[in-house]
Amino acid sequence: MPTDIPRMGVPDRLAARLSIAEQHALLVSRRTLLTGAARVAASMVIGGPAAAFWLQLDTLPGRMVVPFGRHLAWGANPRTTVSVGWQVPHRVKRPFLRVGASPDALGPRIDAEIRPLRTDLGGIRPATEQYYVHATAGGLRPGTTYYYAVGHAGYDPTDLTDYGRVDTFTTAPSRRGVARPFTFTAFGDQGVSSHALANDGMLIAQRPAFHLHAGDLCYADTSGKGRMTDFYDPRSWDQFLAQNEPVAAAVPWMACLGNHDMEALYSPDGYDGQRARWDFPGNGPALAAGVYSFLYGNVGVIALDANDVCHELDGNRGYTGGAQTAWLDRRLGHLREQPDVDFLVVFFHHCAYSTSTAHASDGGVRRHWVPLFDKHEVDLVINGHNHVYERTDALRLGVPRKAEIGETVHPGRDGTIYVTAGGGGRSLYSFGAPDSHAGRRHPVDEIESYVWADSSPEQVPEQIPERVTWSRVRYTGYSFLAVDVEPAREGHTSTLTLRAVTEDGAEIDRVVIARKAAGGSRARLNDQSA
Ligand SMILES: [Fe+2]
Ligand SMILES: [Fe+2]
Repeated sequence: MPTDIPRMGVPDRLAARLSIAEQHALLVSRRTLLTGAARVAASMVIGGPAAAFWLQLDTLPGRMVVPFGRHLAWGANPRTTVSVGWQVPHRVKRPFLRVGASPDALGPRIDAEIRPLRTDLGGIRPATEQYYVHATAGGLRPGTTYYYAVGHAGYDPTDLTDYGRVDTFTTAPSRRGVARPFTFTAFGDQGVSSHALANDGMLIAQRPAFHLHAGDLCYADTSGKGRMTDFYDPRSWDQFLAQNEPVAAAVPWMACLGNHDMEALYSPDGYDGQRARWDFPGNGPALAAGVYSFLYGNVGVIALDANDVCHELDGNRGYTGGAQTAWLDRRLGHLREQPDVDFLVVFFHHCAYSTSTAHASDGGVRRHWVPLFDKHEVDLVINGHNHVYERTDALRLGVPRKAEIGETVHPGRDGTIYVTAGGGGRSLYSFGAPDSHAGRRHPVDEIESYVWADSSPEQVPEQIPERVTWSRVRYTGYSFLAVDVEPAREGHTSTLTLRAVTEDGAEIDRVVIARKAAGGSRARLNDQSA
């Protein structure tokens, strides 16, 4: 166990099945009592000198506080809006973002927002103070590379030429005309490790336009059961953001939320910590966190929070009251109607289809969302949760149509491809069947697996056995998904080429998804439309 900091010492039998909202209410009441007791104890032991030390930290010259953990995110319109998030180790004054067409001609300061996050575990250890900073650059030109720098009072990278850091981002292409080829990447279940770093290094070599993170981001909550007995250390987020900065400072790092990302300490839905750390595009249902959509070229992307519908874990089950699923239906329909959209890609944490022995498939995802994927002919679904790589055949109404490595799938006829990309860097899981991938094919006709069934809060979640014939590629190793997008002119064939790449750069899967290119109204589109 990497940390000795439990959320609270609540016995398992009491805390086992509390919702995140119930846990939050209990934590707040206990923290109030424990913090009061801790303050009395602290004043008896350390008194004035400790207070003086903290005051000193609070007034550090701005020049001595260096930003880290830069991470980009698309706004609701990636053609015109990019958000920049970062962290500072101590409180700063007047933080800002500067953006410009060249590194030596950055524009005026754009005011940034500090989102402080205080983690007080009630006297178990001193409270942790984290300072996340965010600013948004709007009114940008589509398909344009910009330079940017972040700073605060006393620290402007353009003044400190020896130390200052200037990074770049490139906005999404215009909706007019035919989009150019591009690549995006995806994985989930990353954490902080040498494998996570290796994946990051191989990932940036793909020169992705953006990256999708399918949840279980950091593992600050190492247990991930959504319970008060989970272990939690907020400082893991500092390591996580620093680890990913070489990629995320230049590539929009689009996160969704997994079971390890629910942190009951901060809010009734457990997501106020995530709201402090991340800039989500903000165009999803009001009740949900990390739920949004964006358009890039001829691809519509949707991020979902599967904690809302999964059967396996009940901490946040049903927290949007069905609003997320209703929004998904509407948003898929809207994106499918867009005349410049060929492909729909949806990513979220819990697997619709996996045979990994750890978590297998979730019946809640299948019940609530798979019918919508069928209805709107979603082309690709990307999940994590199972720490392996697995790719299905094309599936419609649960019926598979074989898609061997190297073959081409036509989703309108064949169905949706489901990818588990859970080899992001956290410890690996296993399969009940042999690995089977490029260079080591071991096909099997049938695999004994299971799907999580619905259960009441009083019941232990049940695993329903199922015989699986749709598991086409399995790889037990650290890896990620790269998707090469080749748009075509109206009436020709656009393609998504899915490549699974290991942390060492080997390709272990490839399949092509092909669609006749949409079109007909491109000339009417403008770059302000969502
Ligand atoms: Fe995970
Ligand atoms: Fe997970």
